[in-house]
Amino acid sequence: MSNISIKALCKDYYLGKTIVHALKNINLEIATGSFVCVAGPSGSGKTTLLNIIGLIDEATKGDVHIAGEDIQALSEKLRTRYRNQTLGFIFQSFNLMPVLNIYENIHLPLILHKELSKKEKNARIMELIEAVGLTEYIKHKPYELSGGQRQRVAIARALVTHPKIVLADEPTANLDSVTGSEVLTLMQSINKSRGTTFIFSSHDQHIMDRAERAIRLRDGKLEEA
Ligand SMILES: Nc1ncnc2c1ncn2[C@@H]1O[C@H](COP(=O)(O)OP(=O)(O)OP(=O)(O)O)[C@@H](O)[C@H]1O
Ligand SMILES: [Mg+2]
Repeated sequence: MSNISIKALCKDYYLGKTIVHALKNINLEIATGSFVCVAGPSGSGKTTLLNIIGLIDEATKGDVHIAGEDIQALSEKLRTRYRNQTLGFIFQSFNLMPVLNIYENIHLPLILHKELSKKEKNARIMELIEAVGLTEYIKHKPYELSGGQRQRVAIARALVTHPKIVLADEPTANLDSVTGSEVLTLMQSINKSRGTTFIFSSHDQHIMDRAERAIRLRDGKLEEA
């Protein structure tokens, strides 16, 4: 079980003499296997929340427990391991390595997984390339693909370590609405078939409507759970 439990979470950013209260006393539970959208206008704190859950940023105050573990108390070494083993990341701008082909891009997060054999790694990559419908493009470089295809590569890369939780910050923001909807369908099918928790942010109502639950932020505060 990888329930996420967030208690009294606050995040302040210091910009010279001014303090930006990016998150204000957030209390939230996200059940294992959920398909959740973090919604809210620009500047409401969506990226900040995802980055704290993803151990990319640190809270100013409050607790974040994942599967009962106080993730903020982990050492830097364990934080890195957590990011690489429990979490998967999908970004708005895909973040693929331009010099690597599709197979190599998806292989990248497995470099740290010394416990897996070459055969197992290859099987995982091939299975995911098929699942995202890119078998014909294995040897292509990212620039030879469309935006939607690139995001499908990024989804495969996020899943190759078999993470329990995938965090996706505006995964459809750079895609047209039809392609964005297809990316959502792919995420949804993985959520259903593998029970992977998906937490994605968006300010697009059509994307929000696809979630089981919307977590709405406004000015750093939770509107409803
Ligand atoms: N590194 C930073 N330094 C200072 N202020 C920051 C930093 N990152 C975010 N902020 C501020 O924190 C608030 C929340 O920002 P955040 O990026 O989480 O919003 P968001 O909901 O993701 O917005 P968007 O929809 O535009 O991506 C904003 O007021 C923003 O200006
Ligand atoms: Mg953002």
